Amino acid sequence: MSAHATTAKRVTLAALAAKKDAGEPIVMVTAYDHPGAQIVEAAGVDVVLVGDSAAMTVLGYESTVPVTIDEMLMLTRAVRRGLTRPLLVGDLPFGSYEASDELAIATAQRFVKEAGCDLVKIERGGTTVDRARALVQAGIPVVGHVGLTPQTATALGGYRAQGRTADAALAVIDDAVALQEAGCSMLVVEAIPSEVTEVLVSRLDIPVIGIGAGADADGQVLVFHDLLGLYDGERPSS
Ligand code: KIV
Repeated sequence: MSAHATTAKRVTLAALAAKKDAGEPIVMVTAYDHPGAQIVEAAGVDVVLVGDSAAMTVLGYESTVPVTIDEMLMLTRAVRRGLTRPLLVGDLPFGSYEASDELAIATAQRFVKEAGCDLVKIERGGTTVDRARALVQAGIPVVGHVGLTPQTATALGGYRAQGRTADAALAVIDDAVALQEAGCSMLVVEAIPSEVTEVLVSRLDIPVIGIGAGADADGQVLVFHDLLGLYDGERPSS
């Protein structure tokens, strides 16, 4: 591990909020194993996401849908062991949080207790807003995720850009505002027009982290395997 990693101060949510206020970009990258974690830590990233993209990038599934809680926990624990400074976000897999607040809290507590996550990420607006509120009330910081939400890509018509009509853009913005009001600490926006991202960055107090959402987000999240050109499967069209 680098000297940087061992001596630098741990990233906090307050530090991310200060970055947004100062207009300093926030850097989030995915990692799925111990060496990957050490690489992104040494690079000085702010936030590490053990995304359920692991399903496709490292486990060989065709989508993020089949990955299980136990598979995600194993990968997340390996990443935790490789990190000191960045915030660690665990990604709750499809089917592990949607049905009830109780289910969401029980799953999220496993990611915090068993894998040392600082925050958990959940997808969509709608009923997910209630799940986010319940998690925050249970003391678990939450990252929202709107726009293209891969866990429900089939319902969205496939891996395609979202928010491209006025009504669809307003729906994304409404979901984002509702997630902030529910207490989310951060929001990932995926595959939406840059104009919509711009509105979100100015309307929301929480950091807006984009992927395929233009250059105006408060930060960007990149998939480790995309960064290194290691994944040749299907990507969202933006
Ligand atoms: O699973 C993942 O890696 C993600 C990012 C693309 C935001 O959700």
